[in-house]
Amino acid sequence: MKIHKYEKAFLLLSGVILVIFLGASFYAALGMGIMLPSRDGEIDVRQVRTTPPFDNPGVREVAPGVYEVVVIGQAWSFLPQEIRVPAGAEVTFIATSADVLHGFNIEGTRVNVMLIPGQISKVTHRFEKRGEHLLICHEYCGLGHHMMSGKVIVE
Ligand code: CUA
Repeated sequence: MKIHKYEKAFLLLSGVILVIFLGASFYAALGMGIMLPSRDGEIDVRQVRTTPPFDNPGVREVAPGVYEVVVIGQAWSFLPQEIRVPAGAEVTFIATSADVLHGFNIEGTRVNVMLIPGQISKVTHRFEKRGEHLLICHEYCGLGHHMMSGKVIVE
């Protein structure tokens, strides 16, 4: 069997591209610590407001420089609406939905998760610079979807 020389070149190129992409994925995951947001447990969607930690939404310092932010997404707002965290701290958002599917996207960051009824989403981020970020719902959740937003203030 004779392999045309261009065919050989393209086969080789495909192999090289695969190796580069796999290498980039491993480097991102292991070298840079980029991970997909994780699913962090289940919750009864009818009892979100009485189930810890969602019975007490807000910002808590759990260790020096380590913060936890508990957020409920509901039609059509976030609870709390305004989140204040210090610059440079490690902030873990623990969030869920109290009704339908919502999104949780903090503008200008990699924080981008879905709030799925019955599921708890968890994502960690470090805000290096002071400033304000818009927090938006980016999953269509009904009539008021476009008004569903909040604010993350890094101070
Ligand atoms: Cu909540 Cu769109």
